[in-house]
Amino acid sequence: MITVLDRNSALAIADELGEVYAAAFGAPGYDESADGTMFATEMLPKHSARDDFKLVAADQDGRVVGLAYGFTGHRGQWWADRVADAAGPELAAEWIGGHFEVVELAVLPAFQRRGIGAALMQELMLGLHNSRALLTTYADDRPAPRLYRRLGWRLLVPDLGWGSALYGMDRGVPVGS
Ligand SMILES: CC(C)(COP(=O)(O)OP(=O)(O)OC[C@H]1O[C@@H](n2cnc3c(N)ncnc32)[C@H](O)[C@@H]1OP(=O)(O)O)[C@@H](O)C(=O)NCCC(=O)NCCS
Repeated sequence: MITVLDRNSALAIADELGEVYAAAFGAPGYDESADGTMFATEMLPKHSARDDFKLVAADQDGRVVGLAYGFTGHRGQWWADRVADAAGPELAAEWIGGHFEVVELAVLPAFQRRGIGAALMQELMLGLHNSRALLTTYADDRPAPRLYRRLGWRLLVPDLGWGSALYGMDRGVPVGS
């Protein structure tokens, strides 16, 4: 079952979400410093205060097994400005600012390859007002970029310069609607 959580309900289960984050990004082959405590105490509190924050959680028998979240991003924020600098002015003008920014997608290793990641992404994108959505993911061939491409995300920049590719989705919603 997938549940949509707002800021308060996400923060109420921050530790459990942090465990999912740490297990997914700490799995063999993922060289991230997968710190679940940092996720729960710094990253999630900071990001959940952003505009239109939305988190979706997948649960199995009362246990959270996957999560995805994002918010409306703006120029002046660290990620938006860093990506804009790397992507160049033309692409930045068209895509960056007011976009829905997908920040994280993670599924516990034992629950992967069952369609949970795809279901989380589909639920996350439902009903958003943003005309554009953006995310960065691994530039090399892995489950995450394959999943995004399968769901219709378009490769905008194959490598931003630090091993991440930029993907975008034109959602066809008129700007300002
Ligand atoms: C990326 C991630 C969230 C995908 O989660 P997932 O639940 O495994 O996603 P899905 O099950 O929807 O799809 C993954 C694969 O399983 C396959 N699959 C889905 N349902 C299946 C089923 N019933 N039987 C067999 N395979 C299946 C998909 O086709 C896909 O195959 P592919 O990797 O060869 O393209 C997960 O791998 C993860 O947490 N990775 C570490 C963190 C990460 O990379 N996050 C994204 C950062 S940008």
